[in-house]
Amino acid sequence: MLASGILGSTASLLKRVEEAGAGAVTTKTILPRPTKGFSNPVVVDLPFGMINAMGLPNPGIDEFERELREARSEINIPIIGSAGGSTPEEVAHVAGRLQDAGADAVEVNASCPHVRGHGVELGSTPEMMRELVREVRRSLRVPLIVKLSPMVPDIRSLGRIAVESGANALNAVNTMRAMYIDVEAMRPVLSNRFGGLSGPAIRPVAVRCVYELADLCDVIGTGGVESWRDAAEMLLAGAKAVGIGTAIRRKGLSVFSEIKVGLESYLLRKGLSLRELIGRARI
Ligand code: FUM
Repeated sequence: MLASGILGSTASLLKRVEEAGAGAVTTKTILPRPTKGFSNPVVVDLPFGMINAMGLPNPGIDEFERELREARSEINIPIIGSAGGSTPEEVAHVAGRLQDAGADAVEVNASCPHVRGHGVELGSTPEMMRELVREVRRSLRVPLIVKLSPMVPDIRSLGRIAVESGANALNAVNTMRAMYIDVEAMRPVLSNRFGGLSGPAIRPVAVRCVYELADLCDVIGTGGVESWRDAAEMLLAGAKAVGIGTAIRRKGLSVFSEIKVGLESYLLRKGLSLRELIGRARI
């Protein structure tokens, strides 16, 4: 499935991802009000991934509702609305409106590592996670997914609290807070100085997080998946779905069909069904 944060801001982009072979799509994180985001530069590409600090640019829920209704009428796969905000009440408000505009599930962004007052700052302690998930749960009928940060001392405990508070599934993981300095200019490259590291560099961390969470509830494995082998690793760790984000920037939309074809021949070679693969490396 398409991970939040890339190609998720308009109906036409989401449609292109469906046509490329994704099994589900996640929108960009939507906030209560329009936000311009940070000024350039907002992305640094690296040999082993990328660092982004977009600043949660989004049209706000009033405007995005229209886009989501259009997407809903044109797209045949599940649409997951990503909800953000600076308080649990704001996140719950956005979540309810994403649901009413046609989202099949809502993902709470409790994990963006570099926008003050948002993301990981709302869900990094057990108390905050409990309050956030309970509040959002109250405003939803559709399944609730919580996207977790890998930058917490005990992701399993935090995941358990999210599930006990009403989450139906967890997404592991968002990016890791990082920095890149241009040694000639002798300054950080990103306008926000700090950003979130994604891509192959964080895949082993993401696999570990999936492994630690997968017996608590359904888990979406996200973080550095670029090939069928990477997807197989997530599934073997126990993920029931795999999120693809940065790989689209690095390899293009053909990454979805490439992974599907590769996984199919791997399963054939191993004589296993997809269901039999999931969690098989859990010992
Ligand atoms: O800066 C951003 O828009 C990133 C969001 C996220 O990592 O969730």
